[in-house]
Amino acid sequence: MSHEASAAGRVALVTGGASGIGRATAVRFAAAGARVVIADLQEDLGNAVVAEILAAGGEAAFVRADLTREEDTDGMVDFCVTQYGALNWAFNAAGITGTPAPFHETSLETWRRLIDVDLTSVFLSMRAELRHMVHNGGGAIVNASSIAGLSPTPNLASYNAAKHGVLGLTKSGAKEYSGRVRVNAVLPGATDTPMIRKYMDDNPAIQGEMRAEPGTGHFADPDDIAAAVVWLCSDESRHVSGVSMAVDGGLLLH
Ligand SMILES: NC(=O)c1ccc[n+]([C@@H]2O[C@H](COP(=O)([O-])OP(=O)(O)OC[C@H]3O[C@@H](n4cnc5c(N)ncnc54)[C@H](O)[C@@H]3O)[C@@H](O)[C@H]2O)c1
Repeated sequence: MSHEASAAGRVALVTGGASGIGRATAVRFAAAGARVVIADLQEDLGNAVVAEILAAGGEAAFVRADLTREEDTDGMVDFCVTQYGALNWAFNAAGITGTPAPFHETSLETWRRLIDVDLTSVFLSMRAELRHMVHNGGGAIVNASSIAGLSPTPNLASYNAAKHGVLGLTKSGAKEYSGRVRVNAVLPGATDTPMIRKYMDDNPAIQGEMRAEPGTGHFADPDDIAAAVVWLCSDESRHVSGVSMAVDGGLLLH
């Protein structure tokens, strides 16, 4: 079965779809024939992605959501149902990196913010998505973790913990809803998005180190991650659930 055949008529939700990896995935979902809902804080950028998809002949809509608020995560799923009558696939991509600091200098405020945006948001998003999917013929969920979810990045203890936690939520969902909803995680390596560019601009000391990383020797394109996410949602991966799929050019092996 081709991607076109398996995506046609499906409704795909992308959190954090206004930028970077989420944006690339929204565009790819639409190109494969899915109707796409983008949920994000950034209204202008989100609407620009919708306009791009519509201009290419696809279907998409934007809903503003702060994913740390349960009324917003519940609201984005309601929006999918109102707008397109269903929710089949979800990619939970929204996240932030935070400001790097040694573990012993990390403030409680930084910790709480990171856990809220990068972990609680995934819990709330998954909960809302599962509530719909379990009563409406199942579905597929993909969560954005990171290679930092397996191998920690120095000076990002809160981010590392949140991304490890995302794998815990992924496996919990995959086990509990086995046979009904597939839940997988994608673990990008360094990927060329506004997030990583800002992180490198704010922290010039790590730039040389990141560019010199082993592996493919270059940053992933957001579309490299999007391709994996679309496959993990499609029927072609129908027997795949609970996996932590690194898309990092082999970086984790070094
Ligand atoms: N870029 C990388 O190198 C890299 C590597 C590993 C993992 N990741 C993960 O991939 C995901 C996407 O990252 P990206 O690089 O595309 O980042 P990005 O900054 O380009 O996009 C993230 C999007 O999330 C949205 N967002 C943030 N907080 C939100 C909130 N509370 N409510 C709603 N929307 C919110 C932002 O507005 C933004 O549009 C993140 O979870 C990130 O941790 C990225």
